[in-house]
Amino acid sequence: MSVFVSNLLEGKAAFVTGGGSGIGAGIAKRLAKQGAKVAVLGRKLEKLEAVAKEITLAGGTALALAADVRDYPALEKAVNDAAAAFGRLDILVNSAAGNFLAPAAALSANGFKSVIDIDLCGTFNASRAAFQHLAKQGGTIVSITATQAFVATPLQCHAGAAKAGIEKLTRDLALEWARMGIRVNAVAPGPIAGTEGMSRLAPPGASDETLRKMVPLSRWGTIDEVCEAVIFLVSPAGAYMTGATLLLDGGTSLLGPGPFLDMMGG
Ligand code: HXC
Ligand code: NAP
Repeated sequence: MSVFVSNLLEGKAAFVTGGGSGIGAGIAKRLAKQGAKVAVLGRKLEKLEAVAKEITLAGGTALALAADVRDYPALEKAVNDAAAAFGRLDILVNSAAGNFLAPAAALSANGFKSVIDIDLCGTFNASRAAFQHLAKQGGTIVSITATQAFVATPLQCHAGAAKAGIEKLTRDLALEWARMGIRVNAVAPGPIAGTEGMSRLAPPGASDETLRKMVPLSRWGTIDEVCEAVIFLVSPAGAYMTGATLLLDGGTSLLGPGPFLDMMGG
């Protein structure tokens, strides 16, 4: 149950990269529920259309747009198409990302680059493409990072470096764009239940006991809880916040990499 009133974002338009699945899809649906028109972007149109259909059937307005965030011209066209369809753009959420477990010593240069290109360059690309629209009436950007941005974590140096880069980019864009009325923030989730990220990264066969050791609050987070943080940041409640990263990890990062260390091997 949301703590935010249902018409909070009435009249606003949002663009969500990675909106076809997981946390990004959850955020897109929540933005729509709060009254915003929402465009979702990813590479696979089928997933995006399913999310857009769900929003439309619930009475909202949604648009599904396929593009790779690494392809600037295609991404810029999608952002422009969304702004044209909705008549404006107020909110950008950067949720598109790629990750996999790989020891740094075996990770290829292209494997490292692919994740940097999707997560970090993709976040810059979408922010850059959205800028001219957000600057018209003021707007807000929220990027989804991760605790790996600041907790040294084995097997994820590519994603950790990308997320750290996004948090720095968040502060730099916040500084440069504040005078245009654009607020730029990030949310750094810990382990979130029922997501592709968790199925790729969770220590295999994690028992309840492992889980309790990994998370001080003794449970995984939920997509809804990430949505609450995003809604707070894009709403008037977050009007004086810019350049911030909200940590949303049940205290996980207080314990360092936890069971990830066991996965490193001898
Ligand atoms: C080692 C791997 C690999 C793996 C790919 N590569 N998977 N290396 N272990 N498991 C290498 C490939 O060999 C190749 O290098 C390079 O990465 C690019 O691979 P492609 O498959 O050609 O790339 P692409 O099709 O662009 O796919 C990108 C991807 C893929 C990141 C590799 O997994 C993807 O599309 N992921 C999107 C969905 C996703 O990851 N969701 C989870 C997000 S969770 P070579 O040298 O062979 O050419 C998340 C958690 C947050 O982000 C916490 C993190 C901080
Ligand atoms: P997910 O479902 O795989 O979401 C990632 C989305 O990004 C997918 O819909 C994917 O769609 C899209 N995407 C990937 N590469 C893309 C590209 N090159 N261009 C355009 N879109 C692309 O994973 P998730 O677990 O929900 O993660 C969502 C976000 O939360 C990510 O930023 C992730 O780093 C962050 N996060 C997740 C967790 C967690 O516990 N799950 C924890 C911390 C942070 P296509 O494949 O169709 O393109």
